[in-house]
Amino acid sequence: MSVTHTAPDGSPVGVYLAIPAGDEPAIIHDAIAGDADVLELGCGVGRLTRVLLAYGHEVVGVDNDPLMLQHVTGAETVCMDLYQLDLERRFGGVVVASHLVNRRGEADRIRLMEVCARHVSDDGVVLIERYPPAWAEEPDDGSGNAGLVHTSVTIRDRSPDGFWATAEYRLGERTWRHDFSFEHVDDTMMADTAAQAGLVLTGWVNDTRTWARLRPMTAS
Ligand SMILES: C[S@@+](CC[C@H](N)C(=O)[O-])C[C@H]1O[C@@H](n2cnc3c(N)ncnc32)[C@H](O)[C@@H]1O
Repeated sequence: MSVTHTAPDGSPVGVYLAIPAGDEPAIIHDAIAGDADVLELGCGVGRLTRVLLAYGHEVVGVDNDPLMLQHVTGAETVCMDLYQLDLERRFGGVVVASHLVNRRGEADRIRLMEVCARHVSDDGVVLIERYPPAWAEEPDDGSGNAGLVHTSVTIRDRSPDGFWATAEYRLGERTWRHDFSFEHVDDTMMADTAAQAGLVLTGWVNDTRTWARLRPMTAS
């Protein structure tokens, strides 16, 4: 199994194998029903998946990189572009971690939420993680450690359309460079996009307001 590989979106397998899950699975678990089955979009190597499984949730993980999915154990996996997903199945929890919602462009944001709306049960919950709003509005360079991985982020360019950045990851002797772009998603954008996709933003499940909680519009 290749740990030197990077996914089409630039995410390095070796980095995501080494970063701990932290408090994210607990945030997800606390926000959904205890017996909810979970659809995890962009699950990567299963960093969060394995803890959600340990909580007792059945998980279906979706990713478009087969070498990421090779590392997922104990969950059903689907290898495809998540924007095209239609499993004809609904879940008590639909989870989109890792700031996929911050990808630039409203059209992709609507498509992402439409996939969530298509797969959440009437009494289910959609959880979407965005960048911390205070940072993403006017992002700065920064660095920090997660487990043994040291990450430095440099903002290379900014325009009304968003931000262009480079993350450099260091793990022991190895380094990876990941170029990416993103835009700030404020509360109004999150609510408006949700409404266009048939979802309702019902609030934020953590103090930093990075995890949005949504439900289907048809639910009472
Ligand atoms: C930053 S990684 C995070 C993985 C995982 N959510 C985690 O927190 O460890 C983002 C993942 O999303 C996947 N991804 C990005 N765009 C995708 C797409 N359009 N369809 C399916 N997977 C995608 C990447 O392959 C990668 O594994």
